[in-house]
Amino acid sequence: MSELLKVVGLKKYFPTRAGTLHAVDDVSFSIRARETLGVVGESGCGKSTLGRAILRLHEPTEGEVWFEGQNILTYDASRLKQLRREMQIIFQDPFASLNPRMTVSETITEALLIQGLFSKRDRVALSRRVREMMGLVGLSERLINAYPHELDGGRRQRIGIARALSLSPKFIVCDEPVSALDVSIQAQILNLMQDLQRDLGLTYLFITHDLSVVKHLSNDIAVMYLGRMVEKAPADELFANPRHPYTRALLSAIPVPDPDFATERILLRGEVTSPVDPAPGCRFAGRCPHVTPECTARDVPLVELVPGHLCACILHKKYEKA
Ligand SMILES: Nc1ncnc2c1ncn2[C@@H]1O[C@H](COP(=O)(O)OP(=O)(O)OP(=O)(O)O)[C@@H](O)[C@H]1O
Ligand SMILES: [Mg+2]
Repeated sequence: MSELLKVVGLKKYFPTRAGTLHAVDDVSFSIRARETLGVVGESGCGKSTLGRAILRLHEPTEGEVWFEGQNILTYDASRLKQLRREMQIIFQDPFASLNPRMTVSETITEALLIQGLFSKRDRVALSRRVREMMGLVGLSERLINAYPHELDGGRRQRIGIARALSLSPKFIVCDEPVSALDVSIQAQILNLMQDLQRDLGLTYLFITHDLSVVKHLSNDIAVMYLGRMVEKAPADELFANPRHPYTRALLSAIPVPDPDFATERILLRGEVTSPVDPAPGCRFAGRCPHVTPECTARDVPLVELVPGHLCACILHKKYEKA
């Protein structure tokens, strides 16, 4: 299948009083149409900044973002506004991202009006579209005039999804869309998102700190550590054959229901490197159980170990299956 999105050497640096913070540092990947790239990594590794830089909600410092064959970083404000119909975002905390003074109907209507897809006078068509969107995300029509505080977390997230989908986008950055929800509701929202992807042909960049959430949802999974992509592979391959010591530590932290299959948890010790003006070399070196002097001597590039499986670790030969 053809690629919908291609990101090349993307950087997002923030100037801070202490120096330049490398939130996203030279990240490249592509996503095929109708597929999902899961992006995982711990808090502060740059997942949200990556998602926002792709949508130009944060202006990237450097790099290229190709969407349907066009580098969108060259777009002016009016083309960018049009692009918002094609590329949308769903946030972690729907309560924070929804206006507390707007009803379900007003929230979805606002999105449609901002993009000029409808005029205020098209009241019948607008109302039909709002109801259509509510049906699509499984919200009962009797909630049409409800306010966010009157709804539970799952229903609030359904509004966030309906708002994003109201413009019929092709690509959606899903920024931890279920992390704030109860576990029982998480599965419902994940199922909904998978159904919508299949029915509407959506392409997702799915951000989470929880590897088990993206396992069944992603075609490929990218692992980030302090602004860098350290490993990327098809989801099954990443779980079966993780190569980077950081990925191995992340996987070892997932609870396994069957004790016979439990692997020993890898506890990470040592200092977390600062993302402000980081020194050359592997950013995981300070916590890596396999660190060698070579790891900090120079930057460690992502290398394709087997087709489709990339890893940035000078020790990767050691991780090849015997
Ligand atoms: N507007 C900003 N100004 C300065 N620094 C920022 C800004 N936004 C993010 N950062 C910094 O960039 C780094 C990456 O942050 P980001 O929010 O992208 O991480 P994340 O992986 O999404 O974390 P979380 O899992 O907590 O959501 C962090 O060090 C953060 O403090
Ligand atoms: Mg985030």
